[in-house]
Amino acid sequence: MKPPVKIALIISGGIAAYKIPELIRRGRERGMDFTCIMTEAASRFVAPLALAAVSGNRVLDDLFSLTDEVEMGHIRLSRESDLVVVAPATADIMARMATGQANDLATAVLLATNRPVLIAPAMNPAMWEHPATQRNVERLRQDGVAFVGPASGDMACGETGSGRMAEPGEVLDAILDQIRRCEGPSGTHPLAARHAIVTSGPTHEAIDPVRYIANHSSGRQGHAIARALADAGARVTLVSGPVTIADPKGVDCRHVVTAREMLEAVETALPADIAICAAAVADWRPQSEERNKLKKDGSAPPSIRMVENPDILARLAGHPTNRPELVIGFAAETERHEEHARAKLTRKGCDWILMNDVGATSGVFGGSHNRVMLLRADGTGETWELMEKSRVAQRLVDAIAARLADGDGL
Ligand code: PMT
Repeated sequence: MKPPVKIALIISGGIAAYKIPELIRRGRERGMDFTCIMTEAASRFVAPLALAAVSGNRVLDDLFSLTDEVEMGHIRLSRESDLVVVAPATADIMARMATGQANDLATAVLLATNRPVLIAPAMNPAMWEHPATQRNVERLRQDGVAFVGPASGDMACGETGSGRMAEPGEVLDAILDQIRRCEGPSGTHPLAARHAIVTSGPTHEAIDPVRYIANHSSGRQGHAIARALADAGARVTLVSGPVTIADPKGVDCRHVVTAREMLEAVETALPADIAICAAAVADWRPQSEERNKLKKDGSAPPSIRMVENPDILARLAGHPTNRPELVIGFAAETERHEEHARAKLTRKGCDWILMNDVGATSGVFGGSHNRVMLLRADGTGETWELMEKSRVAQRLVDAIAARLADGDGL
């Protein structure tokens, strides 16, 4: 028999909270196990005792005592479920989520979770349509939060419009959709509770206010890897240089321009279990950025003095306190491919390196396909056939999941 789907159900203070006992009762019939977390306002709309009775579990609220915290810290609570659901989600809790607040148990759980989050908004139509709420909705969507509803119709406040919480059956369907989306073909979350950092795209290193040094990386390979990791259940921080492709869904994307900004964003995102450096980081940058545009004034062309950029991959691999368990680099080579890639693997101290041929005719930079050779620090390696970058990403994620599952200590 399949184990029940574990739901952390956050109930905020809206009239629609009266629908929650029915949602729980019907969800249990469909194989769900609910742990309810209530905001202070929610307990004015639905009795904690009723929720405890219908869910069969203790209800947690802001009276969450120190003993509870020791037994089940809010971090653990936020990560032990398959999905975090906020229903009903008031304008207030959405605003607090969008600004990353953690001033009660419900928002602390939401900030600490690495599980997918689904919310069912419920509020007065004017509140829903208010630009502030819509800004928060947009922000939350960018953060990978999924929505069910709100529906349109007559509201308890007597007004008509959009803002009514989706019916329990619809919320349950959306829960199961989310669960299916996160499950691999085997029905498991191979990278659940893992945090992965991915770098992607080029960096731009300014020469003067209008010119910069860059390369042809489009971000397609790195973004595909971030997406595949998220689909495998990992919490993913994608640090991307300037690209024109969209942020992948379900991924926390940090946008940077220079190599130094990329390093800072990566270090801020630590700790992580997995780091994958797919970005084409500029090895050098102009020593200083000219304050004004360089002028073509008839004298000799300017010579630009270059200095070395920090090596993000090497920093991660040699991190004194927070080295990810698995550090993976790419090697972009145009000649003596395997030899150069192996030398890079050793020099930078990573566990695996994916060599790709970026010679002029390969079409790898910016293209849709890639052919990689996976080289491991233990001297083993394999060549993968030419395939779409999304398939390279999926195959890499499968290899990572297998490696972390059996911890073969490469
Ligand atoms: O973005 P696409 O158009 O999809 O193209 C994909 C890609 C070709 C950019 C990608 O597959 C790839 O090869 N990325 C690495 C490009 C690169 O900079 O390779 P490198 O051999 O110069 O660097 C080796 C490794 O060190 C890379 O993991 C790189 O991210 C990392 N590095 C390099 C320099 C630096 N200062 N910091 C780094 O972290």
